Amino acid sequence: MSEKTSRIPKFYQLSVEERLRIVSEFAGLSSEEQEMLLKGGLDIATANRMIENVIGIFQIPLGIAVNFLIDGKDYLIPMVIEEPSVVAAASNAARWAREGGGIETWASEQIMIGQIQLVGVKDPYAARFEIIKRKEELIRIANEKDPVLVSLGGGARDIDARIIHSIAGPMLITHLYVDVKDAMGANAVNTMAEAIAPHLASITGGRFRLRIISNLADRRLVRARTRIPASSIGGREVAEGIYEAYAFALADPYRAATHNKGIMNGIDAVAIATGNDWRAIEAGAHAYAARNGRYEPLSTWELSENGDLFGTLEMPLAVGIVGGATRTNPLAKISLKILGVKSASELARVMAAVGLVQNLAALRALAAEGIQAGHMSLHAKNIAVMAGAVGDEIDIVAEKMVSEKTIRVDRARQILEELRNKKQP
Ligand code: MEV
Repeated sequence: MSEKTSRIPKFYQLSVEERLRIVSEFAGLSSEEQEMLLKGGLDIATANRMIENVIGIFQIPLGIAVNFLIDGKDYLIPMVIEEPSVVAAASNAARWAREGGGIETWASEQIMIGQIQLVGVKDPYAARFEIIKRKEELIRIANEKDPVLVSLGGGARDIDARIIHSIAGPMLITHLYVDVKDAMGANAVNTMAEAIAPHLASITGGRFRLRIISNLADRRLVRARTRIPASSIGGREVAEGIYEAYAFALADPYRAATHNKGIMNGIDAVAIATGNDWRAIEAGAHAYAARNGRYEPLSTWELSENGDLFGTLEMPLAVGIVGGATRTNPLAKISLKILGVKSASELARVMAAVGLVQNLAALRALAAEGIQAGHMSLHAKNIAVMAGAVGDEIDIVAEKMVSEKTIRVDRARQILEELRNKKQP
């Protein structure tokens, strides 16, 4: 059992300061780190070194999802996202999973694939044979490029080559498999791919073209699994609805895309909070979802005799806890500290757990009350602000729109006008 609990009832009802105090105690955040969370941690000089042509810093809210019990350990989950309801939904669904014993996870090794494209190879099959014969030498050349990774127990592990028949003729595609340990890995893999490309060209008599990581990181897989008691989600009828929602996604790519979008709501939010490349994660996720030749849901849901649901999520997750924005953006460092993860593999496992319950929360809402009910309150507040409401007016205008089930800017403006007219002496 873990000594700290992430089960924090009514967390959402607390003030921002109160929530921050609880999270700071949980994660041991310094007063400087707390200040950065409130005021923004990335300074313009650092931002200017991160990308080109900087003119400012764009901010997105950072919320904390509570109630996560993953492999017997309690986690508070930092999520950076602009969409209302996602953090609340993750927290709720994590509570249901907790009632079923928590979420179990597994991660493979952290192997990324670098691709080297060779064209103009006269006898591709003989060339493939030659590459495989000389793989020890090629692996050594690749590893010379990253002695630090090698000293940490990572590095190039294996080499394979495939012949593909493209519209531009046959191509010999070499795959370099690299254990990237705690890094996302793109830099290490791309450097190694560039280092071995000239050798591959001279071995095969071909010309190298692309030398780049593949985002279909199917050697870097992660799985999460959980049991959801029917009683936690409103009974057997709702559980059946969730199962049928999953069946719908399995049978229909139009639905599977949205089903997976719900999973990525959770995964991307943690990826952004921790400074990870969410486009790489997205690319890998959707390519993996289509690996059987048809786009499919990344999660599975099974309904047991007694109405309990068993959910799994399996997908590639190329995330790091060292290098890149995970280190340059101070807020990413703070997010990693809140999570308390010690390795990229642990971060990936936590993210898979978040993705799985995020999916459950969406399916439950869709199968039960419909998605708009949950979205309404925050959405209404946003609309109230758009209509010009400030301070207390925001809640008053939003509540009125929710009670009327009409959430539109024009209605918000009317309510606001009435409110202000009433206030006038
Ligand atoms: C909205 O951001 C995500 C959902 O559409 C996911 C789903 O339909 O499963 C609610």
